[in-house]
Amino acid sequence: MNTDHVQNDITEVLVTEAQIKQRVAEMAHILDEKYQDEVPLLVGVLKGAVMFMADIARAMTVPINMDWMALSSYGSGTVSSGVIRILKDLDADVHGRHVVIIEDIIDSGLTLSWLAANLEARGAASVEVVALLRKPAAMKVEVDVAQVGFDIPNEFVVGYGLDFNERYRNLTSIAVLDPKVYR
Ligand code: PRP
Repeated sequence: MNTDHVQNDITEVLVTEAQIKQRVAEMAHILDEKYQDEVPLLVGVLKGAVMFMADIARAMTVPINMDWMALSSYGSGTVSSGVIRILKDLDADVHGRHVVIIEDIIDSGLTLSWLAANLEARGAASVEVVALLRKPAAMKVEVDVAQVGFDIPNEFVVGYGLDFNERYRNLTSIAVLDPKVYR
């Protein structure tokens, strides 16, 4: 799905499909170099990271394992509270594993800082964070991130996994949602 179908709902394409593809390939290459000797466990955070996980995993050439978590932040509306609930836990035991968290976006940073600490507490040998997008202006906590695809302005973005009310996840680019849609 490209943005032609939702022209009236978006104000701007921030990151094009081609830019995503190129950046994801670069990020996958860095992971390939790093994980020559051990099979990393890529942990995708549902649902936003589905597209990024699918693409970065396929762009990697070393053997990997994949697993998924679904998390929910307690609190109302779009404001993250920092208190995280696990809706779906990993199938894999992370003890002794080299874990790569694959996340679509770092907004406040609360989800990722909680998740990285949680996986470390389970005895992971290492935990690194790879995020496609980051909003520096929205961050409330520092997150130690190994790789970020793109730093973006503090605007409501959709596409390539990111939603508003479960819509727009299948846009192939990342676009700014017109405020009239959510006001
Ligand atoms: C989004 C996103 C991250 C989190 C980032 O998930 O996918 O997991 O919020 O926000 P934070 O840095 O402020 O913690 P969301 O809860 O919207 O769920 P979804 O991935 O299923 O859309």
